[in-house]
Amino acid sequence: MSDLLSAHIDEANDAFTGAVKDKLLKSLSSMSTESLEWLVMEWYQFSFANAELLRSAVECTKKFAEPGVSVELQRNLDEEDGHAPMNKQGMLNIGTDMDKRVEFPATTMFLANVAELCAPNPSRALGALYATETAAIFEHEVFFEICREICERRGFTYEGSLIKRFHDIHLEEGVEQGHKDGLAAFVDLDTTGADRADGEPIDPAQVRAGALDAIKVMQVWWDALLERAFAEPVSTGA
Ligand SMILES: [Fe+2]
Ligand SMILES: [Fe+2]
Repeated sequence: MSDLLSAHIDEANDAFTGAVKDKLLKSLSSMSTESLEWLVMEWYQFSFANAELLRSAVECTKKFAEPGVSVELQRNLDEEDGHAPMNKQGMLNIGTDMDKRVEFPATTMFLANVAELCAPNPSRALGALYATETAAIFEHEVFFEICREICERRGFTYEGSLIKRFHDIHLEEGVEQGHKDGLAAFVDLDTTGADRADGEPIDPAQVRAGALDAIKVMQVWWDALLERAFAEPVSTGA
């Protein structure tokens, strides 16, 4: 196995995302449309909050002597511009109004926990963002299938739909892989030995801790999402 820190983080990420993906994709056809729609609405909260989380990490990582991290996160943020509205409109086109969503405390807690990882420690922020950007690939893969299922059940054609396009941009066109790879270069860059007075070093121990903490909070969130989604019936209106 690779000794790279990014590979160690990927291993922890894959263990959790693989299990969630298996469970969801296996059960997709037997889950109610309400449960599937509810999952989409909860994930949308993360997609919507992501811009603010990235903005906070862009600022926080300016403390590094290495300017590339903040530049890469800004590139990521610019690329995400307009994606949350596309997700929202794409779902509205197939009969799901995100504005009908009722707050789910586990999601509120999750977003607060991720926000705490994005600042003020830049190495922790780098690790956390690397982990969440890596998980974004799995999220789009899972929601690609969930959205297809919702689409078909409601009599809409998935091919050519805005919501399919939204997922395609992130998967086929490699947006999320680009976000992961763009950060991996810095996750694997140990600058603690470099004597630079103009900023903080990238500290691998902190990067690792931030990434593992982010994976832990994603895992807790997904456990809560699955528990609720499998506990039929899910009501989005109460
Ligand atoms: Fe996006
Ligand atoms: Fe991303």
